[in-house]
Amino acid sequence: MCGIVGYIGANEKAKLMLEMLKELEYRGYDSAGIAILKNDTLSIFRATGKLTNLANTLKDFRSSGFGLAIGHTRWATHGKPTETNAHPHTATFSSVIHNGIIENYQDIKQELEQKGIAFRSQTDTEVIVHLFEEILKTTNDILSAFEQTIARLKGAYAILLITKQSPDRIYYAKQGSPLIIGKGKAGIYFASSDAPLIGLAHHVSYLEDGQSGYINCHNFETLPNICPLHTNKLYAQKDGFRYFMEKEIYEQHKVLLETMMGRIDGDTILFDELKDFVLPQSILLCACGTSYHAALVASYLLERIAKIKCNVAIASEWRYREPIMDTNELFIAISQSGETADTLEALKIAKRHGMRSLAVCNVDNSSIVREATWTILTRAGIEKGVASTKAFATQVMVLWMFALYCAQHQRKLLPQDIRQQCTAMLRSVEATKVAPKMHDKIRRLSKHYLHGHGFFFVGRDIFYPLALEGALKLKEISYLHAEGYPSGDMKHGPIALADDGLFTIALMPQHMLFDKTKSNIEELAARDATICAISPIEVEVADDWIMLGNHASYMEEFFETMVILQLLALEISIRLGNDVDMPRNLAKSVTVE
Ligand code: M6R
Repeated sequence: MCGIVGYIGANEKAKLMLEMLKELEYRGYDSAGIAILKNDTLSIFRATGKLTNLANTLKDFRSSGFGLAIGHTRWATHGKPTETNAHPHTATFSSVIHNGIIENYQDIKQELEQKGIAFRSQTDTEVIVHLFEEILKTTNDILSAFEQTIARLKGAYAILLITKQSPDRIYYAKQGSPLIIGKGKAGIYFASSDAPLIGLAHHVSYLEDGQSGYINCHNFETLPNICPLHTNKLYAQKDGFRYFMEKEIYEQHKVLLETMMGRIDGDTILFDELKDFVLPQSILLCACGTSYHAALVASYLLERIAKIKCNVAIASEWRYREPIMDTNELFIAISQSGETADTLEALKIAKRHGMRSLAVCNVDNSSIVREATWTILTRAGIEKGVASTKAFATQVMVLWMFALYCAQHQRKLLPQDIRQQCTAMLRSVEATKVAPKMHDKIRRLSKHYLHGHGFFFVGRDIFYPLALEGALKLKEISYLHAEGYPSGDMKHGPIALADDGLFTIALMPQHMLFDKTKSNIEELAARDATICAISPIEVEVADDWIMLGNHASYMEEFFETMVILQLLALEISIRLGNDVDMPRNLAKSVTVE
């Protein structure tokens, strides 16, 4: 995820910017840059890759004495991770950095290009600085030009802009992306999260959406809600959560909005990245672990919504099974990291046999992205917890949108149906917000689920892959034995394990085969298994009940259930005293087979 820093003051700025950006490294990035304005000179430095590359471009540069500095780490969303696409973006006398996505940048870009403005990058961000200088031609009031610029932008942003026209201040705007302004002994500081500010600023203001203006050395006190800054860096990186996994569960509603941003326009799904896309006759979805579970969910959605026949394969199996490949079939590789050896190799095999491919991936420029014909980035931001949470959520969202995209292009759905699904998507995002009461209930309940000989997670339809995912989450971080099953499959074998030492987590949405699942649960309860029902409807035989919200569709129920399962795994694991973020025997990126 992108990171922002800034400074107004007399300290050496290049070194300071690098140090502040370093505190944001944990969020992941693929390029970085800084702009320094001092004595009417605007100096720009940018580099791809790690901050050491940026440091190399700065090694002979010093900038003490009063001035301004802005710095950025970029996680590519629009345009490849190249130096030209790295921030800051500069027009004639101004420079800008930005986190978020400007949804209407194409319209603004077109309008500015018609006026003869040449763009250098493929980013959405560059429009901001050109638009600002264009508006400035019509007014002497720089703040007004900045505010008129901001008023034109749709989407999410945290923006810092500096201009030679007013070299003592930094212009800022916030909408949907975090931005903090701090004051310290040596000046004014800006950052997109606490970590870079610790040790520099003693007081901060966490900006609210809709705030914009400028800050110089004298007007910090005019900001609202100024408070002292705490001093623990690791705590700051985790935004105050106990574990990165917990933080990542809590931020799902934010990243899901990023996943959707710019891809829905009323009743139309847009994937600019699918240039010359050919609708396939059938699809093979291939992945490992959690990504495989997202593939299974997608296969239900693609068949139901887009009426495209799907097969799903675990990459480590598919690559050695001498599969029959069909060049009319689309190969979809799903991977958070983009580096999973088995998925990458499977993709290479499909490519060698002439199959077209789509990568659904969280990391631009990763090996899987480079190999695939098309890519849709999931935009989850860096995921630090080894147990995948937000990456799974964004994979499912992208694949749901992709199913709608295919249905729309085949005219399998009416515009009003697509609009209805888009509404369900927004509601599903809402459903991933963690309610403190719910978390507390799961925390209390978790103490009853620490012993026993194992767990069954059961569900039907897309709640079956979600049951698999719930079981995987639990076993990864708690080291307890857990399996996911289709609830209708109990009597074909698994029910033999049912006794008073078996815990069953029953996924029982009201909008997906509730009565069928209920009968299966009753059979387990009759054999004394402990039942924890996740449902909006109270189930008589259940020992515990985690109450789902009263949603309008099974997709909303799916996303809320997903969060509940993640929290349950987290709380059980914490009670068992395990390291949630770094479970034993596991690695975040599995680059060997
Ligand atoms: O990076 P990928 O999505 O390709 O990784 C696949 C699996 O290794 C991964 O999902 C793994 O199962 C996670 N630890 C699950 O939490």
